[in-house]
Amino acid sequence: MCGIVAYIGHKEAYPVILKGLKRLEYRGYDSAGVALLNNGLKVYKKKGKVADLEETLVGKDLHSNIGIGHTRWATHGEPSDRNAHPHRSQSGKLAMIHNGIIENYASIKQELVNKGYHFTSDTDTEVLLNFIEDIRINNGCPLEEAVRIALKRVVGAYVIVLMDEDDPETLIAARKGSPLVIGIGKGEHFLASDASPIIEYTKEVVYVNDYELAIIKADELVLKNLGNEKVTPFITKLDMELAAIEKGGYDHFMLKEIFEQPHTIFDCLRGRMDATVGSITMSGIQQYADQLVNANRIIMIACGTSWHAGLVAEYIFEELTRIPVEVEYASEFRYRNPIVHKGDVIIAISQSGETADTLVAIESAKEKGAIILGVVNVVGSSIARTSHGGAYTHAGPEIGVASTKAFTAQLAVLTMIALKIGQMKGTIDDKRFMHLLNELNDVPEKVSLVLQQDEQLKAIAEKYKDASDFLYLGRGYNFPVALEGALKLKEISYIHAEGYPAAEMKHGPIALVDEKLPVVFVATKDAYHEKVISNMQEIKARKGKVIAVVSEGDESAKGLADDIITVPFADELIAPMINVIPMQLLAYHIGVAKGLDVDKPRNLAKSVTVE
Ligand code: G6P
Repeated sequence: MCGIVAYIGHKEAYPVILKGLKRLEYRGYDSAGVALLNNGLKVYKKKGKVADLEETLVGKDLHSNIGIGHTRWATHGEPSDRNAHPHRSQSGKLAMIHNGIIENYASIKQELVNKGYHFTSDTDTEVLLNFIEDIRINNGCPLEEAVRIALKRVVGAYVIVLMDEDDPETLIAARKGSPLVIGIGKGEHFLASDASPIIEYTKEVVYVNDYELAIIKADELVLKNLGNEKVTPFITKLDMELAAIEKGGYDHFMLKEIFEQPHTIFDCLRGRMDATVGSITMSGIQQYADQLVNANRIIMIACGTSWHAGLVAEYIFEELTRIPVEVEYASEFRYRNPIVHKGDVIIAISQSGETADTLVAIESAKEKGAIILGVVNVVGSSIARTSHGGAYTHAGPEIGVASTKAFTAQLAVLTMIALKIGQMKGTIDDKRFMHLLNELNDVPEKVSLVLQQDEQLKAIAEKYKDASDFLYLGRGYNFPVALEGALKLKEISYIHAEGYPAAEMKHGPIALVDEKLPVVFVATKDAYHEKVISNMQEIKARKGKVIAVVSEGDESAKGLADDIITVPFADELIAPMINVIPMQLLAYHIGVAKGLDVDKPRNLAKSVTVE
């Protein structure tokens, strides 16, 4: 969370930075700011979105060929103009942007206060900046050296980029834990939290590693470690097109991304499975296949929507491979001294590949000797690079803050892995293997059919948009789909929603049911279908409003449900990829009907790089 952008070269820095910040707003949008060198160091910042900053700067002389910019998701200090980045050092000579958290900022701040420093914000960033300045003044050393000394004292996660009024030719950046990409142009460099602000200028990028410091001039990039030794930059070619990060005629990124799913799921399956000959090839998994086959258990680690994908995968893996699976919230796993043995297999699931909770959890498991396999969307991201192996989900850039297409792509990848391992272990017979491969193959087309019901879901959204609570119920493979439906609604519409196993509902949540409560049932045909219909009866008997997602041709919800959405039938193991689509569309349309900013819901960020 927090997006950073910086530029040095022959272009005007401000437009490059502004455009970049707009692309990174998914990382936070509490406040935004830029620092430029134009007759001295100038810092402009504003509470609110990047557009609010832009508005205040109309008509100003912003000429500068060097600059840094930031869009914030508040950690230390409320969202406000004064807590917005960039921050300025006490002398006014330095400006800095920061993504991350400095955990020991309080003790450093106290030292600085004792020396007479005054602070103009509540942020940990201003503390680190003045700490750097203090070292530079006391040691009489170059800024680069002061940054290095300061970072050795710092506990926490950061990407920082500094500008110095007295050195208009240089930017200094460093990273630990939060992401930093440097784009290499002709006589210019672009810095950003991800590649999206860079892609229209150059496809050659360097992913800076932890504990590396970058000294960047227009025509030179020097990378060093904290021991002051030079490191050779590893240049990667971006495999991404500009069109992929634009709205392409849709009102919102979220809607575009929901509608992209037939393609993204297809892209994810393409080249990996062949339903005609019955093969699955996943090179990043292949080399750890033996460990997976022989694993005593598998642990899935993730957060948010990715955690829900892990829950579906738990059912799939246990069914197909007979290996016990535990699904852990990354933030809980890390800090409860988990039991991890050498050779244990951990599957880390993450869209962004930068979620700090997930990253630290897998780092600690890796230290204990576990094998880490990443199921990650963003190529080159920290989790992808920390993992021993794994598979990319190939869903393309996901910009809407609420995750949609990443979820279905994660399920596609996880299903293929489970099928492959089940086949190798002999825990699935050929007939079922071929059947499931064919079912997977049909998912993109079935998702397209569900998307055709967009108008119906919009009408249902209009009907229930003023409800204050929602209940989502499902059983078996559809239980995590219910959880995901509830999460989507909370995120996008700010309506309180809970997901529950349909049968568990009678042990508590049923007390909430009255004539005002909409209850969404994910009730497609599966092994427990009749029992779920009985649960529906129980809700109806208490006058709840029932919205049912059922399989095509199934009449059992007729007369019980107030609204029925039909989806193509799929094997229960595959069905979550199809059944989640109405959940996504319902949340989207309710959010829009309430006039909310569905791409940037309040308080959320897409890539949460703090613990
Ligand atoms: C944030 C986002 C969620 C997302 C979660 C995990 O909280 O708001 O939408 O599911 O992080 O993100 P990841 O990138 O690791 O999948």
